[in-house]
Formats: sequence, structure tokens, C-alpha cells
Amino acid sequence: MRRIKDPAIMQRLALRWRSRGVRIGFVPTMGYLHAGHLSLVARARQAVGSRGRVVVSIYVNPTQFGPAEDLSRYPRDPKRDLALCRDAGTDVVFMPEDATMYSGRETGRYSTYVVEESLTRSMEGVTRPTHFRGVTTIVAKLFNLVQPNVAVFGEKDWQQATVVGRMVQDLNIPLQLVVAPTVREPDGLAMSSRNKYLDPVRRAQAVVLWRSLNHVRSRVGSSRSGRVSSAVLTREVASMISKEPDARMDYVEFFEPSTLAPQPWVMRGTRMALAVLVGPTRLIDNGLI
Ligand code: PAF
Repeated sequence: MRRIKDPAIMQRLALRWRSRGVRIGFVPTMGYLHAGHLSLVARARQAVGSRGRVVVSIYVNPTQFGPAEDLSRYPRDPKRDLALCRDAGTDVVFMPEDATMYSGRETGRYSTYVVEESLTRSMEGVTRPTHFRGVTTIVAKLFNLVQPNVAVFGEKDWQQATVVGRMVQDLNIPLQLVVAPTVREPDGLAMSSRNKYLDPVRRAQAVVLWRSLNHVRSRVGSSRSGRVSSAVLTREVASMISKEPDARMDYVEFFEPSTLAPQPWVMRGTRMALAVLVGPTRLIDNGLI
């Protein structure tokens, strides 16, 4: 496994592979890897086969964090990440730095961003208004540097995957986007690098996200008409969350999976997403109803 820091070297290697017909599978991450990330690496390998190359990027992208967010304390463990990538059969770990990815940003000489103007207006985009601009910008840059045939994103960030899919379509980026299932802890909590922030008491409370999804599934599953009003379910989920002493609901939303359009009625095929603060830690989850 090779480790590359320099974006120019990464791009040269990727272009060389592509010119020889080698397929590239790509998993962008911010590091502090867990089993969810490793499942994306396995999916990338499956997509490109043993003759392809799998690239994992590890980069905590500053432009997707708001000023009051956790950029400076975002968990990092590069040594462990590299070992996990090696064990997972990664060919290249691309670990660029701010100085090369956003050269001149402090002095105003970096001034190009990619903005998706519709799907980013709801959910995460409301609470984190500059987040998706940072995500689409870095993902577009990484796509240019890694030149993937296939890029694998996790379903846990459903809105992110949908926004990236729209960017790929709108900007004619020649790659296949794969969205891979969320990996969960045995009690249902979606794996996330931010779970590390939770002490044992809050870790137990965090399962309320998973319980909320299942509550909505069983309410819809047992309703005679096959549908339940979003307003009613929102109240029920809010009440479940409020019973956890350290939890505060940010949003719960019921929407059409590909357009993210809010739905007044929840039925099979509707998607639900929610964000909950557990103490200071903001967790998100989503699932198909
Ligand atoms: O999902 C993430 O970890 C990040 O948003 C991504 C896609 C690596 C971009 O920084």
C-alpha cells in the first residue's frame, strides 16, 4: 500500500492508471475509520475487481465545518487508519494537507467553490448552511485528483450522497456513484467517527435515533391505510427524544428519497432522516420506511 500526500503525485498516478485501462475505485473519508468505512472499501474493491486499484482519501476538510463546529477536535488517528486501510486491501491512501488542497485560502487566492442549489436547502443545509458547499467542493477536487471510475459513499449521509449524485449528473462527471448500506453497532446506533465523543451514559441515549426510525416503521407498518401523517410522527419522535435527558432534536424529516421533497404522509418508500444533539454531539441517521 502506498501513501501519497501530494495532490499532483496522486493525480499523475491516477491518470497513468486510467491511460492503461486500470479501473479506480474511490472511498473519500475524513479518517478515524470504523467498520462502516471499511465496508465502503470492500464495496470499492468489489466494483473494480482484483486488477483495479482502490484509493481511500483521508482528509478532514476544513471548508465543510462551520465556525462553531468541531473541526479542531475532530478525532484523528492516522497510524491506525493506515493499518486498517492496509488490512482492507487498499492500494493507495491519499492524505493531502490544507496547504496543498486550499493553497492561498487564507489570503483570498483560493476562490473557487462548487455549490448545489436545491437539494442542500433542507435538513443538514438548514442547520449547517455552509456545509454542503464545502462537501461538493472537496469531493469535486478529490474526483479530479483520483479520477475514479467508481466512488463509494455511505448511506448514513443520505443527503450528502444525494447531493453528490446531483453534482455528478449536473457537471457530467464520468463516474459511477455507489451508495452502500449503513453499518450499525449491535444496538442499532449507526457507526460514525463522532460516536467517540459520547460517554457511556450518552452512548446509551444515542440509540434513540435508531429507536425513532423503528418506531416510525412499525407505526406505518401497522396502520390500516398504510400511511401516517408526518406531523403526527414528528410529534411522536420529538416526544421519544425528549425523554432522553441529554438529547435534543434538531430535525426529523420525511421525504421522497431522490428529490428530498418533504412528504405530508409517510408510507412505505418514504425516507426518514433525523439529527439529534446528544449532549454537545450532533448525530444523524436515516432510513427507508
Ligand atoms: O462523509 C465524509 O466523510 C465527508 O463529508 C467527505 C465525503 C469525505 C468529504 O469531506
